[in-house]
Amino acid sequence: MQKSLQIHVFSFTFLLLLLLLPLLTDSQLTSSESQTLLEIQKQLQYPQVLQSWNDTTNFCHIRPSSSLTIICFNGHVTELTVTGNRTSKLSGSFHKLFTLLTQLSSLNTLSLTSLGISGSLSPKIITKLSPSLVSLNLSSNFISGKIPEEIVSLKNLKSLVLTDNMFWGFVSDDLRGLSNLQELDLGGNKLGPKVPSLPSNLITVSLKNNSFRSRIPEHIKKWNKLQSLDLSSNEFTGSIPEFLFSLPSLQILSLDQNLLSGSLPNSSCSSSKIITLDVSHNLLTGKLPSCYTSKSFRNQTVLFSFNCLSLVGTPNAKYQRPLSFCQNQASKAIAVEPVHKVKEKDSARIKLGLVILIIIGVIILAAILVLLVLIVLKRRRSRSEDDPFEVNNNNNNERHASDKVSVCSTTTASSKSLPDSTKTINRILLSVGRVPQTMRSAVIGLPPYRVFSLEELEEATNDFDAASLFCEQLYKGCLREGIPVTVRCIKLKQKSLPQSLTQQMEVLSKLRHMHLVSVLGHCIASNQDHNQHAGNTIFIVQEYISSGSLRDFLTNSRKKEVLKWPQRMAIAIGVARGIQFLHMGVAPGIFGNNLKIENIMLDETLTVKISGYTIPLPTKVGEESPQAKHPWSNEDREKEDVYQFGVILLQIITGKVVDAGSSEMGSLKLQLENGLRDEPSELSSLADPSVNGSYAYESLRTTVEFAINCLCEDQSKRPSIEDVVWNLQYTIQVQQGWRPSSGNHESSMKAIYE
Ligand SMILES: *[C@@H]1O[C@H](CO)[C@@H](O)[C@H](O)[C@H]1NC(C)=O
Ligand SMILES: *[C@@H]1O[C@H](CO)[C@@H](O)[C@H](O)[C@H]1NC(C)=O
Ligand SMILES: *[C@@H]1O[C@H](CO)[C@@H](O)[C@H](O)[C@H]1NC(C)=O
Ligand SMILES: *[C@@H]1O[C@H](CO)[C@@H](O)[C@H](O)[C@H]1NC(C)=O
Ligand SMILES: *[C@@H]1O[C@H](CO)[C@@H](O)[C@H](O)[C@H]1NC(C)=O
Ligand SMILES: *[C@@H]1O[C@H](CO)[C@@H](O)[C@H](O)[C@H]1NC(C)=O
Repeated sequence: MQKSLQIHVFSFTFLLLLLLLPLLTDSQLTSSESQTLLEIQKQLQYPQVLQSWNDTTNFCHIRPSSSLTIICFNGHVTELTVTGNRTSKLSGSFHKLFTLLTQLSSLNTLSLTSLGISGSLSPKIITKLSPSLVSLNLSSNFISGKIPEEIVSLKNLKSLVLTDNMFWGFVSDDLRGLSNLQELDLGGNKLGPKVPSLPSNLITVSLKNNSFRSRIPEHIKKWNKLQSLDLSSNEFTGSIPEFLFSLPSLQILSLDQNLLSGSLPNSSCSSSKIITLDVSHNLLTGKLPSCYTSKSFRNQTVLFSFNCLSLVGTPNAKYQRPLSFCQNQASKAIAVEPVHKVKEKDSARIKLGLVILIIIGVIILAAILVLLVLIVLKRRRSRSEDDPFEVNNNNNNERHASDKVSVCSTTTASSKSLPDSTKTINRILLSVGRVPQTMRSAVIGLPPYRVFSLEELEEATNDFDAASLFCEQLYKGCLREGIPVTVRCIKLKQKSLPQSLTQQMEVLSKLRHMHLVSVLGHCIASNQDHNQHAGNTIFIVQEYISSGSLRDFLTNSRKKEVLKWPQRMAIAIGVARGIQFLHMGVAPGIFGNNLKIENIMLDETLTVKISGYTIPLPTKVGEESPQAKHPWSNEDREKEDVYQFGVILLQIITGKVVDAGSSEMGSLKLQLENGLRDEPSELSSLADPSVNGSYAYESLRTTVEFAINCLCEDQSKRPSIEDVVWNLQYTIQVQQGWRPSSGNHESSMKAIYE
């Protein structure tokens, strides 16, 4: 009796859900939010990407793309991402636009980039923005003024990106109220001279290319989660503080193009976390800590050209300035430091007099500056009034060159906490969404390695067919956390116990590196039934890199243009570091990695991720034992990787796609060998035309020499992977010191380097 009642209730609910389904999936915005969006379109002066919007547009059903994403939930917009392609300022006031944005009361992600927006962020508007805002990206516009202190009222903000605008200061020097902030990118503004106090949960911080003019602030000491810090292209003075090298999570530290003096601390050697350290173009003196001059295996890339380091006898010596240069510049740099520096030495009267003089000077200077600013502002205002509506269509190809295609079709919205019956609906509802920006870029580190359940993978891959456990193929998918992944399915030959397999899986958890398509986790499934091939199937979950392979870049004429010489060198060293990690960073080393340009993936920032490398696993079905497959010694296979690296390098240099060992490759190698002996113009003519004008000849020459060494027929003459990394680092330093010989409007500091 009771049971049948239950069944009735159940089927009724089911029916109701079925009936509701079409209604729910057809979700529409409230008409007021639709109106707001149309009004936003108008205020943005109808940018190209919004051209198709009109009264009948169903905003929740617009296919998300890299330039436009709208996500709705319960009739409200939760994400609005519009990426324009304007490179000049629009005329008119944007106050109305900002006011409209406050009407989208459920926004959690707002990204309006390259749309020509000008004006300033008024405190009133900031406080009225949706309180659930998690990510705010206004990069590449023309927004000016100070960053208001009310920004701290956006308590949930995790990512704040105001790159490439015209902000020139902070109203408050305490922004610690943004306690959830993980990603802060203020690069390419005119901010300074002091760095405000920032919250301590930050993971990535970029203040590059601003006007900060102080010592490196002490409070960075407390940023325990910091993984990436970019202070480059400012005027930071003083010495490089030791505490930077004790930060427990720091991986990337860029201090280049500043006025830093003193020596590079010895403690920089002891930090094993730091992968990239760039201190080039500063005023450093003294010796380099000894660890950098030894060739032993290090995970670090360290760039230190264009200082005054004493490096007698090393190849880098010619890229150092004379000691007197740094001493002179450093003493000038100290003179513009804030008053406390001067306070220390007030013993002599003469000095006191000097101080007073300086202060008077500063006051007069400040007055003049204020006057100038006023004049400039006035001018700018009157100019902006008659600025024509302009859309640029040529400078900006690069930005769009790697149009992203997101594989993730489920968003992160809390589907985990919802009961199962509603989950399906939720998935349909949100199926137009995609991973929020923050998820993809805020975290450099990967989620911790874990063992997945089969259900989880089924959910992640959606169409993943559990019946086809007989597989050796790749699935694309998306984890609940919004991370796009590929799932590789491998069927094992022998039927081992899950426990012993788990032990063998341990090596998988080590395959995580900045330059590898890293392994995120695995899942073991046993399938005993319905055929004689009973055994274990392993699913390996790896990162998914959507932007494409090096091959895609080299064969697509538009993408190829993005790869200038410095980018190509960065790619080469990325590949080398990935290989170095496989050879030396895991034990036992992994050799014979099937390296080819198809397997070199490039992510959105052109960072190399090697895919298709050997994953050490128990024997697979239909395969010989590993020994039979690789009858060679490890050394053979190590040098085979170096050879394949040489082939990749050859293709990077010439832009020609050739097969390893083909006659085409042979003749290309011969041409380059001859080019080395000939005039520089001969070698230059063999380089890919896309890199013309972007390389230092010396850098090209050493790279070519090096590629040829890697391709030596006699494998004992091929360099080791450590030599590869070491030498490429050298060619990058050479390249760094080189500037194209065009007009130079930069500061006198940089002019001296020419
Ligand atoms: C609105 O745009 C759609 C296509 O985006 C078009 O088919 C329709 O005719 C437009 N309606 C009006 C009223 O312009
Ligand atoms: C720094 O920013 C200015 C504009 O503010 C830009 O023109 C310049 O290219 C940037 N420099 C670097 C090294 O990014
Ligand atoms: C760094 O170490 C070297 C030798 O180990 C020593 O001579 C030098 O004084 C040290 N430098 C600093 C700044 O401690
Ligand atoms: C290199 O990095 C790995 C992790 O990526 C780490 O386990 C290893 O200790 C590092 N090796 C050195 C020499 O720093
Ligand atoms: C950029 O603007 C130009 C000029 O309006 C347009 O033709 C082009 O399609 C735009 N590109 C994108 C990606 O929106
Ligand atoms: C901000 O927008 C720019 C331009 O669209 C994009 O390149 C960048 O990845 C965005 N950053 C974040 C964190 O969303």
